[in-house]
Amino acid sequence: MKKTLALIFILLIFSQLQAQKRYEATWESIDSRPVPTWFEDAKFGIFIHWGLFSVPGWGPTAKDGVGIYDRYAEWYWKGLTDEKRASHAAFQKFHNATYGKDFKYQDFSKDFKCELFDPSDWANVFENAGAKYVVLTSKHHEGFTLWPSKESWNWNAVDLNPHRDLAGDLITAVRGKGLRMGYYYSLYEWFNPVYKANVNSYVDNHMIPQMKDLVTRYKPDVLWTDGEWDYPSETWKSTEFLSWLYNESVSKNDIVVNDRWGKETRGKHGGIYTTEYDLVHDANSTGMEMSRPWEECRGIGSSFGVSRHEMLDDYSTSEQLVHILVDKVARGGNLLLNIGPNADGTIPVIMQQRLRDMGTWLKVNGDAIYGTRKWAKSPKVGKDTKLFFTTKGKDLYVITTKWEDFPIVVEGVNTQNIKLLGFNGMVKSTLKGGKLTITPPTLSPATNPCSYAWVYKIEGAL
Ligand code: GLC
Repeated sequence: MKKTLALIFILLIFSQLQAQKRYEATWESIDSRPVPTWFEDAKFGIFIHWGLFSVPGWGPTAKDGVGIYDRYAEWYWKGLTDEKRASHAAFQKFHNATYGKDFKYQDFSKDFKCELFDPSDWANVFENAGAKYVVLTSKHHEGFTLWPSKESWNWNAVDLNPHRDLAGDLITAVRGKGLRMGYYYSLYEWFNPVYKANVNSYVDNHMIPQMKDLVTRYKPDVLWTDGEWDYPSETWKSTEFLSWLYNESVSKNDIVVNDRWGKETRGKHGGIYTTEYDLVHDANSTGMEMSRPWEECRGIGSSFGVSRHEMLDDYSTSEQLVHILVDKVARGGNLLLNIGPNADGTIPVIMQQRLRDMGTWLKVNGDAIYGTRKWAKSPKVGKDTKLFFTTKGKDLYVITTKWEDFPIVVEGVNTQNIKLLGFNGMVKSTLKGGKLTITPPTLSPATNPCSYAWVYKIEGAL
């Protein structure tokens, strides 16, 4: 009892000190802020790329022979105009044939009607997916904002179609479900004349005021920046902004940011580290064992913005997605899985279906995912790994992504208190000198708790 009281006292003092800590506008100081623990506990989030690019909703696909980054449909405007991009010819061909060569990108705004957008439907989809947070593009590289930003006068979703605060309506619905929510925000804007003429003026009069407005208006839990690669963080005044965010802003306690704050910062500075379709930036990492909390983002298909050009085979299967989640979590990361809604405000049913399958799996096995940490003694995870480990408190979770009838051996464990999540029967095992051998039970279609991956929970193993 005395010990507990002392511990509570120490924790209280510690949290007071943390609360009072002021962050200076230097990377050393900014990097010293711990990532709020809610993030590492959440594990699974939904990324949403939505904007004017959703109107043409098109990008080249694998069969056009371009690499992954050239398939992004949200790059439509750039692909159309930048002759240096590998996807340029494909975008131009599609655009000219479909809309005519005189049709301007800006005119897509007429068809960004979002007439079927029901934020509570979306929130239900996310909740049923088992996601714990949501990140929406408040502004992608096209510069069009999904909130009434006065800096983006006449280039936002309230001044133009759909005449609605999409960012605000969604955050209200998502929070209503008890999920966290934040925003993606592109630092640069491809075609903003102020950005092109005078980056300093753009940063001072457009970018920083926009980010402050976004934070102050909606109190987001995540600010997910991107489009940082043109300039070093000094030009973007990133550390000044972050010191405001951490010291002054309404989101200062819970906000999570990423590492995209200047051309030199990925995998080095900021909050969480980000990977994208497994592209790794952590200089200290080998095979995604990051030195900070991190998050992999990717689409269900090979684009972030919806691509109507994608066929079924361009989409990951539910099994692949569950395996990706398990792989990231066992390595200590999060998965931010992207959906690209349509311009009419609906979520493509194939994406809904994938998310539902993940939710069904998580309902049975979420105990092995949420709130867990990677196991320090885990054998190295590689491309062919089929046995993954996570931990929570004293419990160890053994996740197998392929059902095997033969015994599973776990080293470094001294208890036999095992169950198969979602299964009521006994699980047989033997224990010899820290080596636990689990005999998988015989399952029938009626007793099989789930598809894609199965979890043995070993209570008190650690
Ligand atoms: C990128 C892209 C992009 C996408 C993203 C997500 O760097 O430019 O379109 O929004 O990052 O990670």
